[in-house]
Amino acid sequence: METENIEEEAQREAEEASSSRALYEVKMKFLGRTGKVTALLKGMREIAAEHRPAFGKRVNELREKLEGMFSSLEERMRRREMEEKLAGERIDVTMPGRRRQRGALHPVTRTAYELIDIFSGMGFEVFEGPEVETDHYNFTALNTPADHPARDMQDTFYITDSILLRTQTSAGQIRLMEKKSPPIKMLSPGRVFRSDDDATHSPMFHQMEGLVVDRHITLCDLKGMLDEFARAEFSSSSKTRLRPSYFPFTEPSVEVDVSCHICGGKGCPLCKGTGWIEVLGAGMVNRRVLENCGVDPDAYSGFAFGMGIERIAMLKYGINNIKLLTENDTRFLEQFED
Ligand code: PHE
Repeated sequence: METENIEEEAQREAEEASSSRALYEVKMKFLGRTGKVTALLKGMREIAAEHRPAFGKRVNELREKLEGMFSSLEERMRRREMEEKLAGERIDVTMPGRRRQRGALHPVTRTAYELIDIFSGMGFEVFEGPEVETDHYNFTALNTPADHPARDMQDTFYITDSILLRTQTSAGQIRLMEKKSPPIKMLSPGRVFRSDDDATHSPMFHQMEGLVVDRHITLCDLKGMLDEFARAEFSSSSKTRLRPSYFPFTEPSVEVDVSCHICGGKGCPLCKGTGWIEVLGAGMVNRRVLENCGVDPDAYSGFAFGMGIERIAMLKYGINNIKLLTENDTRFLEQFED
């Protein structure tokens, strides 16, 4: 019987199908629009009228049977394929993870942040000036006119006769005082440039400038604030001392030493046996500078200070060559992870 042969053939081929796709093709071969079972139904017309009902019944039964068989095989195939997919995607959660390299702040950035933290705790606000400056802001307004011998204290990179790379963040003092009237408590971090190059000097380095202008500001205020800074930055027992110095924009001017945080003042290689380490320049803002910025020097007074951030970082972390701070060798930088 034709229907029986077709049933057997369909069953065999369906069971041999190895994927949903192959199974679908077998199904179409028998039940599709041009499939073998469909062809039988179409051929009914050629069958003698008296045999037609019985034939039609057989073919319909075959179609239903095959449909049932295909749908159960399809279901089984879907489940098998899903299991294979899941097995292939399985992850071993006990496998060790890949190690990630963790970044850290550069010691100069870290020191700058420490300083900003200390001084903002005392009420200072951060102000940043430009790195490319005019001669006016970097020198003239800071009481250092052309031909002033103090210009030789800093080897300047000039861009034109009147435009230069700032040699000091002190230029920011003028820019701020032009914008804001006292009371002023400014902290100004930034890059500065000088034609200078050895183990402790680099042509580019960073400074942190401080400026306080208000009524009745004295050198005692400067000294008290410096002591506070030294204790916060170096050690709780740090002290400061002032030595006379000279800057055109401060009068009087001082060099500030901090007691050696390594030996506590007894004398060691870091402080070269003196017990003291020079850390910054400072002084009372020169009357002429206040005048240049439109601040009345009889009503207001102020102090200013400027420190090298690399120098502070080198002292604090025992770094003996400033080049280590610009080479950015990760073996060096790694030591500052915390
Ligand atoms: N600008 C000075 C320097 O670079 C430091 C300084 C700042 C001194 C402010 C006094 C007051 O050497």
